[in-house]
Amino acid sequence: MKIAVIGGLGHIGLPLSCILQVNDSNAIIIDENKGIIDSVLSGKPPFFEPDLKENLDIALKKGLQITDDYIKISECEYVVVTIGTSSSKKDRLNFMNLVDKVLENLAPNSKLILRSTIDYGTCSKLLKNKIFQKKNIILGYCPERIAEGKAFNEMVTLPQIIGAEPDNFSEFEKFFSIIGTDTINVSFEEAEFIKLFSNVYRYSEFSLINEFKNISSKFNLNFDRILEVATLDYPRLENVPSPGFVGGPCLPKDTKTFVENFNQENNIIDLFSNTNELFLENILIEIKNNCPSKKIIFLGITFKPESDDLRGSVSYELSKKLEIEGFEVYIVEPNIPDEAIEEITYVYEDIKEVSNYVIIGTNHKEFKKYDFQDKEVLKIGNK
Ligand SMILES: NC(=O)c1ccc[n+]([C@@H]2O[C@H](COP(=O)([O-])OP(=O)(O)OC[C@H]3O[C@@H](n4cnc5c(N)ncnc54)[C@H](O)[C@@H]3O)[C@@H](O)[C@H]2O)c1
Repeated sequence: MKIAVIGGLGHIGLPLSCILQVNDSNAIIIDENKGIIDSVLSGKPPFFEPDLKENLDIALKKGLQITDDYIKISECEYVVVTIGTSSSKKDRLNFMNLVDKVLENLAPNSKLILRSTIDYGTCSKLLKNKIFQKKNIILGYCPERIAEGKAFNEMVTLPQIIGAEPDNFSEFEKFFSIIGTDTINVSFEEAEFIKLFSNVYRYSEFSLINEFKNISSKFNLNFDRILEVATLDYPRLENVPSPGFVGGPCLPKDTKTFVENFNQENNIIDLFSNTNELFLENILIEIKNNCPSKKIIFLGITFKPESDDLRGSVSYELSKKLEIEGFEVYIVEPNIPDEAIEEITYVYEDIKEVSNYVIIGTNHKEFKKYDFQDKEVLKIGNK
């Protein structure tokens, strides 16, 4: 089966392309990021994801192709769109232009799978498109629901939601049988809502606990202690998350998209972004009060542990805010190569004497090996 994965060099597209090729389909990545094509073709993944390197090596041996040439779309039976999306003007325009290019190049009767997170109503608009109708394209909205760091496990274990006309469902079942996932057929609108709802719900859950933390801070109450005591052997609060940064490439932006799509401005969900801003501001105040030397060892700036992804990282944002406030910030980030960011990064052993104040912004496993004797450590969140 010949498959094009557009945006196939990204966090979603590359694991999917690899797993398709490893399972003996004929995949071709089409991506505008020309600059990294050669290095990926030589077996170097552009980001860290467990098992990606091994799967990429096998996929390349089995003939995975990579190009920036959209013409190749015309040779494929299935075309999967995995480009980055958000509610920003720039990303929406990029997505619309890409859809036009795809429609122009698709062969008649081919199957188009949208896998990027899309605006509610995107599919129904596409179904009305003249070229789409003329070419008799079969549409499926098959949102990706994996978490970064778990791609190769979750891609094959999570049930695949498929927004499609019931008559066309079998075409997408056939596609996902390549990787062996269970499939569930829903309407286009249900699939669009499910994808956004899942991320908005998680965003709200993490934000809600931050709201309680903000309120306790205002009343000089120690929320960490409150949470510890409240949750002790108490089944009704078993799954309460700890307060912490809510960031990353998906939750905040999908929440914005949801709020816009369903006109929920000033709704409780929309207001959670203020909660998270205040949460960050409170941490900044705490640091100012507790670090008179204004020298800080700052551990971890990626958006979550064991990742090299800085997109939407609140920890990184905090490190920048501290610099603006005149702090000397010594960043220790073992997952990011020096050349990837403008800030200088350090090795903990080399700088551990510069300050006795340590912030763990993102708690990579490696930090457990560090010696924090005589240090005052502020750990943000429980991750
Ligand atoms: N990252 C996650 O954990 C995650 C999880 C679930 C869903 N998603 C969704 O999946 C989609 C992709 O996210 P991502 O994290 O892989 O993004 P990404 O930025 O890592 O990758 C996107 C890729 O698309 C390419 N691209 C962008 N515009 C293009 C165009 N016009 N033509 C060809 N290639 C183009 C980029 O070069 C890049 O390689 C988004 O809609 C995101 O919301 C992401």
